[in-house]
Amino acid sequence: MQNLSVNGERLWDSLMEMAQFGATPKGGCRRLALSDEDKAGRDRFVAWCEVAGCTVSIDRLGNIFARRPGRDNSLPPVVTGSHLDTQPHGGKFDGVFGVLAGLEVVRSLNDHGIETEAPIEVTVWTNEEGARFAPAMVASGVFGGAFELDYALGCADPDGKTMGEELERIGYAGDMDVGGRPFAANFEAHIEQGPILEAENKTVGVVTDVQGIRWYDVTVIGKDSHAGPTPMAVRRDALVGAARMVEAVNGIGLGHQPNACATVGVLEVSPASRNTIPGEVYFSVDLRHPNGDTLDAMEADLHAACEKIAGEAKLEVTVEQIWDSPPVAFDAACVGAVRDAAGRLGYEHRDIISGAGHDAVYIARVAPTAMIFVPCADGLSHNEEESAESGDLAAGCAVLMHAMLDRAGVVS
Ligand code: HGY
Ligand code: MN
Ligand code: MN
Repeated sequence: MQNLSVNGERLWDSLMEMAQFGATPKGGCRRLALSDEDKAGRDRFVAWCEVAGCTVSIDRLGNIFARRPGRDNSLPPVVTGSHLDTQPHGGKFDGVFGVLAGLEVVRSLNDHGIETEAPIEVTVWTNEEGARFAPAMVASGVFGGAFELDYALGCADPDGKTMGEELERIGYAGDMDVGGRPFAANFEAHIEQGPILEAENKTVGVVTDVQGIRWYDVTVIGKDSHAGPTPMAVRRDALVGAARMVEAVNGIGLGHQPNACATVGVLEVSPASRNTIPGEVYFSVDLRHPNGDTLDAMEADLHAACEKIAGEAKLEVTVEQIWDSPPVAFDAACVGAVRDAAGRLGYEHRDIISGAGHDAVYIARVAPTAMIFVPCADGLSHNEEESAESGDLAAGCAVLMHAMLDRAGVVS
């Protein structure tokens, strides 16, 4: 078993082929959830899985399950997977590496003629990024029991198109129920999307935990008025107020170091006319920390700052929490399987906490789960320049395969 290897070149070629779907001029990928580009990538993945001898099923949220039979198919499957949807300025590896590493495990087991005791499944989780339909990770969230199916189907994009409508449109509104069936174990391979592994020259990250994430919608109300005759002293300028609040959000991140993160990624101004004082501004807030109590403190600071600034500037403000993904500790046995596999294969590795959210966060609610990280260049992700070394990706895939075999059992 020890020498069972994966085909790193084939994995790399599959990643580069998948990158053509939604390819951007700067070398990244724009494959927004349930877009035509996402459909094209999904179709290619399904075709590859069928060639590899898997049976493919789709659930009501478009989650894809490619199943490689074991000797005893009554056993719950050992599962791996991630997502194919990307950020608007996404890269070639975020999510995609986890999906195609799973496919490479299947292809390698086929090459070596390995029969596992339990079946193996490779999954694609719909809308992990939350870039088009908020919140993120909503489909794996329904599978994990964090959200209701109808809530997810009703999530709408900025044009008002719902996930349910878009699933129908691209032909991925499956008839399988979402969740409700056991997994023996679940592993997700992913690029780290941060600088630690590269800085410490480690090949593998043994992910023990994922930090907590909270999303908010903030709306600031002032008064549309003429940019010329309205004296500065009487203005109710929603954008000036929002700008101060954005600065305050950044201050909340800095104020809860180490480990806190605070980000405003979206800001919309109305009526967005050069000579009208903005009467309404919307902005998003993303707060993160490994500790739930600290997240509570950051949330309290957010409310206090927004209310104080609104009061000073004669504005109204609403701060609505739209997503709360609590910190997660992964299953000790699965984490151990990853750590042991990395050790047996001779890869430099270290335990690490994930700064990014992943579908594994919600699947961990219903199945023993762990993750495997590999380095990415400069720790950069959610950027078209995202890149990773083929050797590191192959190493992460080999660790994934051995951790899965540890859980699935090998017959021959
Ligand atoms: O937001 C995240 O951490 C993930 O990329 N969805
Ligand atoms: Mn991801
Ligand atoms: Mn991402």
